Amino acid sequence: MIAAPLVSVDKLKIHFPTKRRGRTVKAVDGVTFDIEPSTTLSIIGESGSGKSTLGRALVCLTRPTEGTVLHDGTDPFRLGRSALRRHRRDYQLIFQDPHAALDPRMTILESVREPLDIVGEIPKADRNAQAHGLLERVGIAPALHERYPHQLSGGQKQRVNIARALTTRPKVLVCDEVVAALDVSVQAGILNLFADIQRDFGLTYVFITHDLAVAAHISDEIAVMYLGQFVEKGLAEAVQETPLHPYTRALLSAEPEPLPSAMRENNRIVLKGEVPSPITPPAACRFHTRCPRAQARCSKDAPDFRQLRPGRWVACHFAEEMLEEAGEKAQAGPAERAGQRQACE
Ligand SMILES: Nc1ncnc2c1ncn2[C@@H]1O[C@H](COP(=O)(O)OP(=O)(O)OP(=O)(O)O)[C@@H](O)[C@H]1O
Ligand code: SF4
Ligand SMILES: [Mg+2]
Repeated sequence: MIAAPLVSVDKLKIHFPTKRRGRTVKAVDGVTFDIEPSTTLSIIGESGSGKSTLGRALVCLTRPTEGTVLHDGTDPFRLGRSALRRHRRDYQLIFQDPHAALDPRMTILESVREPLDIVGEIPKADRNAQAHGLLERVGIAPALHERYPHQLSGGQKQRVNIARALTTRPKVLVCDEVVAALDVSVQAGILNLFADIQRDFGLTYVFITHDLAVAAHISDEIAVMYLGQFVEKGLAEAVQETPLHPYTRALLSAEPEPLPSAMRENNRIVLKGEVPSPITPPAACRFHTRCPRAQARCSKDAPDFRQLRPGRWVACHFAEEMLEEAGEKAQAGPAERAGQRQACE
């Protein structure tokens, strides 16, 4: 029997009502994907593309308007209230602001112990021992365990939040812009900690980020979101090396230090216009109002989000063409380099 993916999202829509009757914000609008255990998926995209709304749905903090999010084959919203409460321990969310997530009146030891106190299944001495152990595991020295959040740096507070999320031994951690508020010098240490504890605890991560460098550092797979939909998804290296959706190409071209790539545009692609409203997204291909490659059919037919190769998904009418061009460029690359070498010899 083939095991179900740890998380399986099917035609998920999350719409929010607006003050004007009959109009809704289509924050997530038809997203389908799976997440395999002990892997890291990064979700990238501009502000307002629906990343956080999707992240909340993955840990059952937001109920789908349509479609499903299955955990190990189970629909959590079909569970009874107490079963859902128990189920949620396995699916945790860590937020961007490390300070806001901690109660200022609790010592950090109390904050980390609190989820165990609520569950109340083990004696207090054991709960304390577990909290001390987790704090040390995330790099917080015992001398700091009785301090209050305001006495810690941003990086230390985010370490405490990680320890707190680990107390119930979750299967999945959704990390929403978890290093965005930290100094660049602190970010790498926190990302390395995430990688270490993933190995120790066999965790599955979803990293939500604006920052492609963060996604590149941590991910097995990258999904690119635009106006509530996935436009591209694949292995992190493949998406970065050979982006096959014009929106992904534009995002990558804006990176200050682009990676070498067969398909990477040398010049920055500046997208025209503003991101359209998720209340009235453009018809057919949602990206057609800003896409440098758009043609007449793009405003008439919506491209399917389809699998071009195992694990490689793209929603663009011309994805196959771009894949072919990528192959030609990749082949031309070594030949050109050989030609250049010969010219030098
Ligand atoms: N509770 C809500 N009620 C109404 N609209 C909402 C709600 N939550 C999110 N939205 C809207 O849904 C859209 C997607 O928001 P979301 O926060 O998921 O985007 P995001 O990609 O996480 O953006 P950012 O990168 O700025 O965090 C936005 O237009 C937002 O205003
Ligand atoms: S379908 Fe057309 S508008 Fe949409 S991304 Fe592809 S080329 Fe651009
Ligand atoms: Mg967000």
